Amino acid sequence: MNSPAPTGSPRPPSLFRNWVSLAGLVLMASSIFAFLLLFFIDTVAHSSNPYVGILTFLVAPAFLAAGFVIFLFGAWRWRRHLAKVHGSAPPLNINVDLSRPRDRRLLAIFVPASICFLLLTAMGSYHTYHFTESVQFCGESCHTVMQPELTSYLHSPHARVACAECHIGKGAEWYVRSKLSGTYQVYATLAHKYPTPIPTPVKSLRPAQETCEQCHWPKEFVGNLDRTISYYLPDQSNTLYSVRLLLKVGGGDPTHGPVGGIHWHMNVGNKIEYIATDDARQKIPWVRMTDSQGVVTEFRSPSFTNDVSQLAKRRMDCMDCHNRPAHKFQAPESAVNLAMSLGGIDPSLPYIKTNAVGVLCRAYKNEAGAMQGIATTLADAYPRNDPRVHDAIGTVQQIYKDNFFPEMKADWRAYPDNIGHKDWPGCFRCHDGKHVSTVGKRTIKANDCNECHLILAQGSGDQINQISPKGLKFAHPLEEYDPAYQCTDCHTGGM
Ligand code: HEC
Ligand code: HEC
Ligand code: HEC
Ligand code: HEC
Ligand code: HEC
Ligand code: HEC
Repeated sequence: MNSPAPTGSPRPPSLFRNWVSLAGLVLMASSIFAFLLLFFIDTVAHSSNPYVGILTFLVAPAFLAAGFVIFLFGAWRWRRHLAKVHGSAPPLNINVDLSRPRDRRLLAIFVPASICFLLLTAMGSYHTYHFTESVQFCGESCHTVMQPELTSYLHSPHARVACAECHIGKGAEWYVRSKLSGTYQVYATLAHKYPTPIPTPVKSLRPAQETCEQCHWPKEFVGNLDRTISYYLPDQSNTLYSVRLLLKVGGGDPTHGPVGGIHWHMNVGNKIEYIATDDARQKIPWVRMTDSQGVVTEFRSPSFTNDVSQLAKRRMDCMDCHNRPAHKFQAPESAVNLAMSLGGIDPSLPYIKTNAVGVLCRAYKNEAGAMQGIATTLADAYPRNDPRVHDAIGTVQQIYKDNFFPEMKADWRAYPDNIGHKDWPGCFRCHDGKHVSTVGKRTIKANDCNECHLILAQGSGDQINQISPKGLKFAHPLEEYDPAYQCTDCHTGGM
């Protein structure tokens, strides 16, 4: 044989010189290139796009990792192949001999390259971490699914609090938990396996002590809040009827103000647990209170006789009253009342209150259908070319866009608001005067109308300026009703 004589010791065949490893290398190189390019775009672009973020911080690193695995896999397969052909595989031990110029050269490239790679990976993982916590990622990437929550969030007083601050909070444990459930959610979105509407309450939401109370700690003493709510009655002239309430919010911490009022439940000294018999936590037949002295009192609805030892109990926290702090889907009645008081809908249009609420309560297939339906129904009800009608249509359409999401079946009907008691049972889930203590046979305190708020003034016209500091008896607009009824027996927020 005439092969050229090898110089020095024969170099073992490289493990990495095979097509599979080469393909892995190309994949790695292109994902690094793609990462740098996308990173540049993301930094330079003025408006951030969630998809660029996903590509940069999730897809590109995933391809980089995949490339590396393919690269190693190729080497492993090649080594087995060489072993079969030559009888022996090239050794795996790597010999670095700094006296050899070639090794020195290789090392001079290898060390800075590894440092660069490590730095990039560190930066990438940091950005990936932040990115998966961002409003962009949570709210915008799964467009249709999160559209209702994102839209309501952007209109809420928490529009600048990141989703993760309430939904995940601080600490590694909840971060990992959220990523595990998040992975399933990404799959569910891609496979169209998500429920419509997204169910509420969130079963695994972190306790309020670890989220809400990071910003609103219970030492905050709110005192009394003075609120005037304007209503327009369903008559021809849309009569304005206002109620001015002094809400006794109070506080829950004895070192910062008298403990009492609505925030007495804040859980500082006392503990309230309850059992809900439905998933939405709207029916609460059993409540247990443990006060600061440790005295336990149990309250039950008369019809509820079950043995409670086996039933799941929930400890009441901020979210049992403030359950829509970031995602309020306004009921048509309240949205139209508000728009009328702000001038978006002109109250001088006859029956506009009834018509606007009516058109919002209809079922539509999608948003485009709703826009069309609202425009034609309202236009047909009034003379042509009235600019007030044109404005009213625009406002009602906007109310629809902000509060109704037909693709997700999300609107006020699907998401009860627990803060009051007019359209949803809310406070009256417990304060209905029917929950009786097992010992002593008394009802839960605060079942008369002046316990939680005083009605300072009420009525139409000038009546709203006649303040009564002691509080008035509620004068129900239009007609009195039998006090055996609760507000929710008649009011639903719509028609
Ligand atoms: C101020 C805190 C807060 C912020 C910020 C927040 N949420 Fe929520 N979110 C809540 C609460 C409270 C609930 C209702 C929990 C319950 O009743 O159990 C909720 C419920 C949800 C639900 C379940 C469906 C529903 O409406 O009840 C989804 C989905 C959701 N949020 C997504 C998001 C997204 C996406 C963002 C950011 C764009 C976000 N949230 C920001 C507090 C927040
Ligand atoms: C990252 C900080 C932060 C977190 C977490 C947070 N909030 Fe807020 N919250 C704010 C800010 C800021 C405001 C607006 C300023 C204000 O009114 O104090 C606000 C306002 C409010 C208001 C008054 C709303 C209004 O209509 O004026 C309520 C009620 C409230 N938050 C409840 C909650 C609840 C319940 C949670 C937990 C689910 C929560 N917050 C979590 C920062 C936060
Ligand atoms: C028993 C029900 C209930 C519980 C529990 C509760 N709140 Fe409230 N909170 C209210 C009501 C009612 C108001 C009056 C304002 C309203 O109606 O929106 C209020 C007012 C507030 C305000 C002031 C809003 C403003 O406009 O100034 C903040 C902030 C607040 N709550 C935060 C919290 C936090 C944080 C917790 C948990 C530690 C909590 N609340 C627990 C019912 C409750
Ligand atoms: C899960 C049941 C439950 C819900 C829901 C609930 N409460 Fe209570 N609340 C209680 C219990 C139990 C007490 C203690 C009653 C007693 O000592 O007789 C109480 C006491 C009160 C008190 C008297 C506090 C004091 O000074 O002693 C007020 C005011 C009050 N609640 C307002 C509200 C308001 C407003 C809401 C709705 C936003 C509400 N509650 C929702 C269970 C509840
Ligand atoms: C357990 C406490 C509590 C009791 C008892 C109570 N309310 Fe209220 N009420 C509230 C809260 C909380 C709100 C909501 C305030 C808000 O929207 O910010 C409210 C709101 C209202 C409103 C404004 C309606 C709206 O939401 O637009 C009226 C009117 C009213 N209450 C009348 C009454 C009458 C009449 C009674 C007696 C039958 C009564 N309340 C008993 C806590 C209570
Ligand atoms: C027997 C049925 C019935 C009961 C019970 C009832 N209402 Fe009404 N209420 C009506 C009707 C009917 C109207 C006029 C039509 C409308 O606007 O929904 C009305 C109108 C109102 C309005 C003004 C219109 C508007 O835009 O909301 C307010 C405020 C109101 N009710 C508050 C209450 C409160 C608070 C309670 C409970 C304390 C209550 N109502 C209990 C039937 C009832």
